[in-house]
Amino acid sequence: MQQSRTSYRTQQFPESIIREMTRVALEVGAINLSQGYPDFPVAEPIKQAAMRAIAEEWNQYSVTWGLKPLREAIAQHYRHRYEMDVDADRNVVVCCGATEAMIAAMLGVVNPGDEVILFEPFYESYIPNCHITQSTPRFVSLRPPVNGAANGLAAPHEWWFDPEELRRAFTPRTKAIILNTPHNPTGKVFNRAELELIAELCQAHDVIAITDEIYEFITYDGARHIPLATLPGMAERTITISGMSKTFSVTGWRLGYAVAAEDLMVGVRKAHDFISVCAATPLQVAAIAMLNIGDAYFVQLQHDYHRRRALALDMLREVGFQPFVPQGAYYIMADFSAISAEDDLRFGMRMAKEIGVACVPGSPFFSRPEQARTIVRFAFCKKDETLLQARERLQRLR
Ligand SMILES: Cc1ncc(COP(=O)(O)O)c(C=O)c1O
Repeated sequence: MQQSRTSYRTQQFPESIIREMTRVALEVGAINLSQGYPDFPVAEPIKQAAMRAIAEEWNQYSVTWGLKPLREAIAQHYRHRYEMDVDADRNVVVCCGATEAMIAAMLGVVNPGDEVILFEPFYESYIPNCHITQSTPRFVSLRPPVNGAANGLAAPHEWWFDPEELRRAFTPRTKAIILNTPHNPTGKVFNRAELELIAELCQAHDVIAITDEIYEFITYDGARHIPLATLPGMAERTITISGMSKTFSVTGWRLGYAVAAEDLMVGVRKAHDFISVCAATPLQVAAIAMLNIGDAYFVQLQHDYHRRRALALDMLREVGFQPFVPQGAYYIMADFSAISAEDDLRFGMRMAKEIGVACVPGSPFFSRPEQARTIVRFAFCKKDETLLQARERLQRLR
């Protein structure tokens, strides 16, 4: 038998199922509620800023860390919103999306053979990142809010984890924990008590936290996003990652950033430099306009997402899904066992091809597919009319 010519590392993970579902949706003309990108227009001042930057010849490589005025705007954002002490020269790097920031962070601090703790379900890209860095993921389950108060930390409506399971996940080989809050796919927003426990364990075991806070501005019902780095003792051991994709609906612009203590940042910046050199320069110029857009934008963003969440929850409940209500981000995980006995992959494919609405099967978010056999995920970052059209098509399930 001929040996594969691809690398051992890339053989260990499949292509993204989320992006595969987008390809299927395009092929069969399904409404795409699979991949998390908005279908509504970007704010006019942001588009104008990007076009102006190109016309004004901001068209060459930027400093690898990111344009200085953008790093300053990012530092100012962290000072203003979260009272974090961030220096543009020492603590910030601009990357091609949070996706690149995450792999740069892992390459920057994780060694082969290290263990990395992940909450499960998890955002798909963390597993390939573990394979690429030759580290071993250790999973801690997030449990649905049926017995919500069970861990003594979460409210009854919140997804929760068992503190003992988290304690056990920390071993002498643990180098890092990845914390995604607000969380994709569950919509969990980690509360202060949970973050305090994570912080305590990180400090007790000398572990670095890498946080993915890409949905920091999309929360519901008064849930408040708290960056882990703001907890006592955590600023020096946290790499905080966020970006423009979700907050400003520019997922195709590939703009993200990481913020960390200088000694950690050295590793992240080196990895970033040799992965991508820099993020697109004219779009970095436009990103300054994003961060200076004014508070009204963020208030409107929350308002719009509350409405979209309500539309999406209604349309799913109406045809028999049991949705988990998200506290943050723009996804709904839903149990479909009352509608179909198929597994998530078959059901997801039939949804796209026969019903005309694409969603993501649950299994790519779990380490063992059997944990997600009756679960799919819907993205609701869409125009009201797109959601209403999806609602109409979902009637075909009845
Ligand atoms: C949790 C999470 N992190 C990161 C990303 C990707 O962010 P970016 O577009 O900045 O690479 C996504 C996109 O869906 C996400 O859900």
